[in-house]
Amino acid sequence: MPEADSPVLPAWPPAGCALVTGGSRGIGAAIAAGLAADGWPVAVNYNSGADAAADVVREIEAQGGRACAIQGNVADPDAPERVFGAAEEQFGAPVLALINNAGITRDNLTPSLSDEEWEAVIDTNLTAAFRFTRRALKGMMRARTGRIVNITSVSALRANPGQSNYGAAKAGLLQFTRTAAVEVARRGVTVNAVAPGFIATDMTAELIGPDLLSAIPARRAGTTEEVAACVRFLVSQQAAYVTGAVLTVDGGLSA
Ligand SMILES: NC(=O)c1ccc[n+]([C@@H]2O[C@H](COP(=O)([O-])OP(=O)(O)OC[C@H]3O[C@@H](n4cnc5c(N)ncnc54)[C@H](OP(=O)(O)O)[C@@H]3O)[C@@H](O)[C@H]2O)c1
Repeated sequence: MPEADSPVLPAWPPAGCALVTGGSRGIGAAIAAGLAADGWPVAVNYNSGADAAADVVREIEAQGGRACAIQGNVADPDAPERVFGAAEEQFGAPVLALINNAGITRDNLTPSLSDEEWEAVIDTNLTAAFRFTRRALKGMMRARTGRIVNITSVSALRANPGQSNYGAAKAGLLQFTRTAAVEVARRGVTVNAVAPGFIATDMTAELIGPDLLSAIPARRAGTTEEVAACVRFLVSQQAAYVTGAVLTVDGGLSA
């Protein structure tokens, strides 16, 4: 059998930087640390947690990596231009890995859900990821390489009462991921989603208890490092042929 032609692999990471939105805490902080360990200079975006973002940068630098903190509310329509500009100036290179991780919850049962609760979650968890992706694709398509990973949720795959806004945003993000992936696949850019289940962070601190854990086949919450490991794989050179995929990391919750 003749061997299939294998593509000539470029140097990795490429001559670019990574941007992690909401990188100051929780899952985003673990992703930032993981990508830095893989050799990426990492821009750590945050909204209000300047001290937490500075701690993430310090920790990465202490491990020999490169990082900078960049303030920006992702829901602000001007944020992508400002945040990308700052990252690219800091590292002198385009953003070639984008992790759309920033996210919020505003839980309420649908009959009581306010317009503000709906809009805040859609703006932050869905519209911002679209705008950041649109901005990222410019440089990635020019470079003919790039990795985008969108952090969605098992709430995109199965109903979670009290989260109709969050579930709609995360399901929208999933289909956005698939569509963007097929649009740019021929340019060497991959777009994938990671769907965590219950991960021990500030976001879930008040939710995780015995009842919830007994509903998870693995009988435990996941760690931020377990989510980061999935992202690191999707950003790696080895994942060049993986695009438009969703990787669940949920201890079997959505199986
Ligand atoms: N934890 C889970 O079980 C779980 C499960 C499924 C999916 N997810 C998703 O995973 C992602 C991270 O969740 P997490 O649990 O790590 O959350 P978290 O601990 O609450 O941290 C949220 C991060 O997002 C940032 N952020 C929030 N709003 C922002 C905004 N408007 N602009 C810029 N940054 C903003 C926060 O920065 P500041 O502190 O500066 O605001 C913080 O760094 C989210 O998209 C979430 O929906 C989490």
